[in-house]
Amino acid sequence: MKSVKKSAVLFFITALFLSFTPRELRIFASWREPVRVKHAIVASQHELASKIGVEVLKKGGNAIDAAVATALALAVVYPEAGNLGGGGFMLVRFKDGKTAAIDYREMAPQAATRNIYLDETGKLIKGEGSSTIGYRAAGVPGTTAGLELAFKKYGSGKLKWSELVEPARKIAQDGYVLSYRLANLFKAYKESLERYEDSKKIFLNNGKFYEEGDILKQPELAQTLGRIEKNGAKGFYEGETAQLIAADMKAHNGLMTLEDLKNYQPKERTPVRGTYRGYEIISMPPPSSGGIVLLQSLNMLEKYDLRSMGYNSSEKYHLLTEVLRRAFADRAEFMGDPDFANVPTKTLIDKNYAEKRRATINLTKASKSSDIKHGEIIGRESMDTTHFTIVDADGNVVTNTYTINDLYGSAVTAKGTGVLLNDEMDDFAAQPGKANMFGLIQGEKNSVQPKKRPLSSMTPTIVLRKDGSLWFAVGARGGPRIITSVLQIVINMIDHDMNIQEAIDAPRIHHQWFPDEILFEPYGMSPDTRTALEKLGHKFAAKPINIASATGISINEKGVRFGAIDSRSDGEAVGY
Ligand code: GLY
Repeated sequence: MKSVKKSAVLFFITALFLSFTPRELRIFASWREPVRVKHAIVASQHELASKIGVEVLKKGGNAIDAAVATALALAVVYPEAGNLGGGGFMLVRFKDGKTAAIDYREMAPQAATRNIYLDETGKLIKGEGSSTIGYRAAGVPGTTAGLELAFKKYGSGKLKWSELVEPARKIAQDGYVLSYRLANLFKAYKESLERYEDSKKIFLNNGKFYEEGDILKQPELAQTLGRIEKNGAKGFYEGETAQLIAADMKAHNGLMTLEDLKNYQPKERTPVRGTYRGYEIISMPPPSSGGIVLLQSLNMLEKYDLRSMGYNSSEKYHLLTEVLRRAFADRAEFMGDPDFANVPTKTLIDKNYAEKRRATINLTKASKSSDIKHGEIIGRESMDTTHFTIVDADGNVVTNTYTINDLYGSAVTAKGTGVLLNDEMDDFAAQPGKANMFGLIQGEKNSVQPKKRPLSSMTPTIVLRKDGSLWFAVGARGGPRIITSVLQIVINMIDHDMNIQEAIDAPRIHHQWFPDEILFEPYGMSPDTRTALEKLGHKFAAKPINIASATGISINEKGVRFGAIDSRSDGEAVGY
């Protein structure tokens, strides 16, 4: 009894102390705690999609089943990025430690050739006909095929495909309540969406616009989902859906044909793996550059004591910038679709190679991107977006990023399908050596070729504890800023002892070789830190900007699951 009393007093004193601990004594930027559950959790950028995923888990489905249902639901409730008309990457780690990486990235249509986005004078085409908007910007979507592959090969077998599709179909048919953010985002994209009849009809209420609280119904999308529910991926790539997409393409000088749709294939890849301070990092291989750039950066950073530098010191930001400058220079030179170009993955993620790249970093002076070239690789090797993360009750984890590239993709909704198509063709080097919409310079290995997959920056990543158990899984949306965000989240967890919510919310920076400038966030960098970096020779972007947005889940040693959604975006972690 005495000891019970003692514990109660101790508990009271601790609680009192914590409640008076001033905010500035805490090491993190946010008071928000991650969502904490005992069994299973889904963290996605829309509450309804997370809830649908959790229902699947409660019915006995595994994390892969839940991922399929969540992804399909996001295609309905998160139209800016959730999709049937795009593609992505799913990284899985099973409870027995095995892994799988599903590449369902879009493929270039057969008619897409190297100079298809250049005019007769050799200049990049702007507007209709370009790689960024309209019918010609769309690659052949991979989402439905990728989800079907995941379900057939790795699903629990306890739930039917139709049970995973039906919740999304029903919301598309019955509608859902629009948030303030989504209603306004449609208006913000008016200029591009109103160019295309079905996009204008569905997302701009035929020009009358939506307000917060309105119900958005998507009957054509419900019918498309109905065909997918009944016929699996064939309900998208063949039959009525495919015919509608191909006919609309043909009517608007698009590239994609019935044949392109029928020939789409998702692929399984081998994840890239490395270590950082003894923790194992598992991430996405090409055609995403994410895993390689992440591991190469971590390999260079490992030599430095980031912990003692402090998470937002000028010393650390200088190092990060120099490391990213080098890793992105390599991205431009060496990376592309591995089915078309020899990507020297093994060398790029090798610690000795990183050491050679790191050795050129001067700790007291910024280098110029124009002076930084790609590394030397001797010999040949054999050969944005929304993210969600799911951990089931058995400890299987899925970390999935998929996208239609720009918000609302190409802005084209294929007539009669409700399917908003991607503008992923802009992730190719439409003109090698010239910047794409993200300002990224890319090389010949990522030039446009029929049936090729454009190089991505998506970085779904899993980190294991030193004993090999699952620690956390994370990913983000935001083009090339995905990689730098995941990198800083990993560092925040490992070097700065943040929890998953703190690690995701903490301010971050971005550098991608060219343009030679540091991107920084609103209220994310103190004036004296900036001055110190400028004194070293760094340049800054004209204005602050939010750098990507992430979702993640961590698990503690007792198996408690913690879900976190970035404060930079909507979403909810839901579990039980
Ligand atoms: N569309 C952005 C990316 O894949 O990196």
